[in-house]
Amino acid sequence: MQKSVEEMVPSKNRPLDQQPDAWGAVAADYHAFAGNVTRPFAEDAADLVRIGKGTCVLDVAAGTGNFTFAAASRGASVLATDFAFGMIDYLRAESERRGLSDRVRCDVMNGQQLDIEDESFDVAASIFGVLFFPDPLKGLRELSRVLVPGGRAVVSTWAPPPRGEMGRIMGDAMAKTVGSLPKPSGPPPWAALGDADTFRQRLLDSGFSRVHIVEVRHVWAFDDLNVFVDLMGKCAPPAVATFASLTPDQRATFRGAVAEDFMTRQGGGPYAVTHEAMIAVGTK
Ligand SMILES: C[S@@+](CC[C@H](N)C(=O)[O-])C[C@H]1O[C@@H](n2cnc3c(N)ncnc32)[C@H](O)[C@@H]1O
Repeated sequence: MQKSVEEMVPSKNRPLDQQPDAWGAVAADYHAFAGNVTRPFAEDAADLVRIGKGTCVLDVAAGTGNFTFAAASRGASVLATDFAFGMIDYLRAESERRGLSDRVRCDVMNGQQLDIEDESFDVAASIFGVLFFPDPLKGLRELSRVLVPGGRAVVSTWAPPPRGEMGRIMGDAMAKTVGSLPKPSGPPPWAALGDADTFRQRLLDSGFSRVHIVEVRHVWAFDDLNVFVDLMGKCAPPAVATFASLTPDQRATFRGAVAEDFMTRQGGGPYAVTHEAMIAVGTK
């Protein structure tokens, strides 16, 4: 039998965004970022599948729980899973704080190999999660496997370049900070699931009989450019590592470059950055 990635590549030798401890360490900062950026998409995703009182919902790569809480607040009974203990710990505390812990169970699990029986959920979601897996198809097939026949998966990913204003702003500011950036050899990790046609085909190849893609945009509006830069530097383990590697002077240059970009285009604020995502709905 072929070995899994976990058996072949020890966690510490994998890219940072495939290391559970690296994600767990940024849980609190990720929660602040996600509240501004991924939460509106999680709410859309919950509206795109039928969730009501008692619906059995699985959230894979749940992070700090945007989709979990969108589903639980609609009456669902949710199992929230993530491979990072730190994320699940944060999510559990947050579900207590919100008074939703009677509807939310939490477990640490690898989304590529769920410890869940076949056909046990009505809805299975992964919001900006599967795109980080070493083998995204494996993650999609797992979502299909655990759904009851006729059950629905809802999966989101970022729209690939040249769309994605955030990537452009951060890339330009980083190039001004460190001179120039190496030419990318492929799509950025956050675009691993491809364009709408490729994304749709990947779900069809993973056991879904009917798939549609909804393209969604949301705007993050803010007054303080420092808050924007701080949260962007904490949104995911690779960003944390990149910012940690900058000298204090480089950090100041980066901040100035981001500020100049916004102020040239948008004056004195409030500032706006647009996020574009694709949400796939697949029926098993
Ligand atoms: C960008 S966050 C998305 C979190 C959340 N779903 C949201 O919408 O904000 C990506 C999440 O994927 C998790 N993750 C990455 N690889 C994973 C894997 N192989 N199995 C389970 N979770 C994984 C990370 O720990 C992190 O919580």
